[in-house]
Amino acid sequence: MQQPVRKAIFPVGGLGTRFLPATKALPKEMLPIVDMPLIEYAVQEAMAAGIEEFIFVTGRGKSAIEDHFDRHFELETTLSERGKTEALELVLQSTPKPGRIAYVRQGEPLGLGHAVWCARRFVGNEPFAVLLADDLIMSDPPTLARMVEVYEERGGNVISLMEVPSEHTSRYGIVEPGDDDGRIVDVQGLVEKPRPESAPSNLAIVGRYILQPDIMDYLSLGSLGTGNEIQLTDSMIKLIGNHPFHGLRLTGTRFDCGTKIGFLEANVAYALGRNDLDGDARSSIAAILEAF
Ligand code: G1P
Repeated sequence: MQQPVRKAIFPVGGLGTRFLPATKALPKEMLPIVDMPLIEYAVQEAMAAGIEEFIFVTGRGKSAIEDHFDRHFELETTLSERGKTEALELVLQSTPKPGRIAYVRQGEPLGLGHAVWCARRFVGNEPFAVLLADDLIMSDPPTLARMVEVYEERGGNVISLMEVPSEHTSRYGIVEPGDDDGRIVDVQGLVEKPRPESAPSNLAIVGRYILQPDIMDYLSLGSLGTGNEIQLTDSMIKLIGNHPFHGLRLTGTRFDCGTKIGFLEANVAYALGRNDLDGDARSSIAAILEAF
């Protein structure tokens, strides 16, 4: 029996400069995909995987995220009095139980590894998940739940992987693969954002991780890596050999909502995937393609 994965870290401290001016006063994680903020997709995915405690690593200007995951009694009462039960359910669906959500400030934007390390006191001595909301994954069953299954079978660390064109390796953490059964890959090494000519494969890390808590010891060293940032990948390398380390190939579709095109694609795909919007969305998109 593995120690259960009960806690998840959501690094949400980024400035969102690619989406200015939209993100001048609004956290990028609050931008909607159709009608739900990006961050709520990640929280729902975590809930579906059995996560009970939610730790957000935030920064200045991110308070809308705290309000979003809090109760809103005035709104709830009004919706209830007006008999708007569906809307009320939507408002309540992703609110973690009282005391199960925590916010910690990153202070300085020193990298993903630093963001995760900022959550160390909340994580304690348990395995934990990390979800990067920018990586939106449309998959059934959802990605983190699939990873938890692999973790329960094999223990250690589990990351999510996808194949990328070799000219894109410098955008991702890349795996040096060992045994590979087409679904699960044994991770023998990792490199953060290698150039194509030095990449050990074209298997890239997607923003979903299940990690053992001793990674915090390595992150504490604060060593700078690619881009002069404290990289999560660099400390994950140190875990290889201490524990099993597996990559699970992604199923479904991943949208890079950190880019404008990925964000647009996600909006179109999620609208087309919705029973209540599908028909209208399809004809609207066809009409727009005709007109422009
Ligand atoms: C981060 C990680 C990288 C991973 C990527 C997935 O990079 O450092 O290893 O492949 O997320 O989206 P970032 O996108 O923050 O530059």
